Amino acid sequence: MIQCPRGTRDFLPDEMERRRFYESVLRDTARTFGFRETETPIFEEAELFILRSGPNILNELYAFRDKGDRELALRPEMTAPAVRMFVNGMSNDPKPIKIFYFGQCFRYERPQSGRYREFFQFGAEIIGSAAPETDAEVIATAAAMIKALGLKEYKLRIGHIGVLRQKLSDAKVPAERFAEVLQKLDKKLYDEARSILASVGVEDADIGSIIDITETVGGPEVLSKIEGDAGAYLKEVLDILTAMGVEGIEIDLGVVRGLDYYTGMVFEAEAPVLGAEKQICGGGSYTLSELFGGEKVFTTGFAIGFDRILLAMEREGIPFVHDGIDAYVLYVSEEARMKAFEIVGDLRSKNVSADVDIMGRKMAKALKYAASARARYAVIIGPKELEEGSVTLRNMSTGEQSLVRICDLASAIKG
Ligand code: HAM
Repeated sequence: MIQCPRGTRDFLPDEMERRRFYESVLRDTARTFGFRETETPIFEEAELFILRSGPNILNELYAFRDKGDRELALRPEMTAPAVRMFVNGMSNDPKPIKIFYFGQCFRYERPQSGRYREFFQFGAEIIGSAAPETDAEVIATAAAMIKALGLKEYKLRIGHIGVLRQKLSDAKVPAERFAEVLQKLDKKLYDEARSILASVGVEDADIGSIIDITETVGGPEVLSKIEGDAGAYLKEVLDILTAMGVEGIEIDLGVVRGLDYYTGMVFEAEAPVLGAEKQICGGGSYTLSELFGGEKVFTTGFAIGFDRILLAMEREGIPFVHDGIDAYVLYVSEEARMKAFEIVGDLRSKNVSADVDIMGRKMAKALKYAASARARYAVIIGPKELEEGSVTLRNMSTGEQSLVRICDLASAIKG
């Protein structure tokens, strides 16, 4: 039997219904915050991702040559495509530009619970503004999305990658080795980070203070310990968030992020219920447009791992009630057959979601099918009732039946 490829999944109707519902919660929240939806291709020129995503993403890239010998790649994330789209067609739009997107991404990772090779991100970007207000607005949007989905237990941590970058630069780490060191720090592989730093001549004391930075964690009181302007900057971000009613955010300079393009504020959200793959959202501020042929434009954004957050909600036992259809129409004799199709056509035209027996089943089996389709009502069409212009309406949850005139059927079902 042919299965779907490793690390990918099929979504059956029940799961798809749940996913579509929560997608719409996220879309509504994004719109409430003034973002507008965009869509970019699933594959791009590979260079778009090679230029600046960093070693993590490069090792996991699904890259290939097409028949025209172009180097292409399935998108591993949607920030670089969003900025390319901005440079290509939106650079003259009034700033700030607030966009959001939803779609699948591909990374050649080792699949496990919450980690897939094809997964979905819901992300947003504010393009054209570098200010604490922008960063706060982005974090507030992410926080509102997580809240709107109903996840109970999660932590939001914010940091500033500029502090580590400055420290690496002060310690004379060559710029081309930054990504490698940051990648190890992101994965908390301190020994490996130490040996890279030692190999480029950084002294033990400096290595210690670089690693110490990643352990600067706590409430607003730790902001005063942060060297340079980053502490004051993050305080402003937090103050704006407090004014917007977003509380409970932790400071954590250990938020390093797995992607290489961030330059300033960075943040992550995690759901402890997920165990190892607990990061449900990540983002921060960066500039990429100048790499793609545009002017340098400051941008801040984030992406929620849609599959992961749904998994966390499931683990927390958040119930989801499936919709079903309003009515299932069945007929009990050959004379009533055409009438069944006429009635279902009429119900659908009146916006009643209705299905009809297309397999000519006996009543008991047809009713069983109606229950599995989660129909609220069964409409039973028999020859005797038809003579009087009526049908039997059966409430599928109580089993109660009543005679209803065909002209009143749609309103009886809607009512
Ligand atoms: P990222 O942290 O690489 O950031 O991915 C965002 C989220 O996608 C993660 O927090 C995680 O929940 C989810 N995710 C990542 N890899 C997988 C996987 N293999 N399976 C399931 N879920 C996964 C970005 O991609 C940035 N583009 C975010 C951003 C937008 N930064 C600025 N703007």
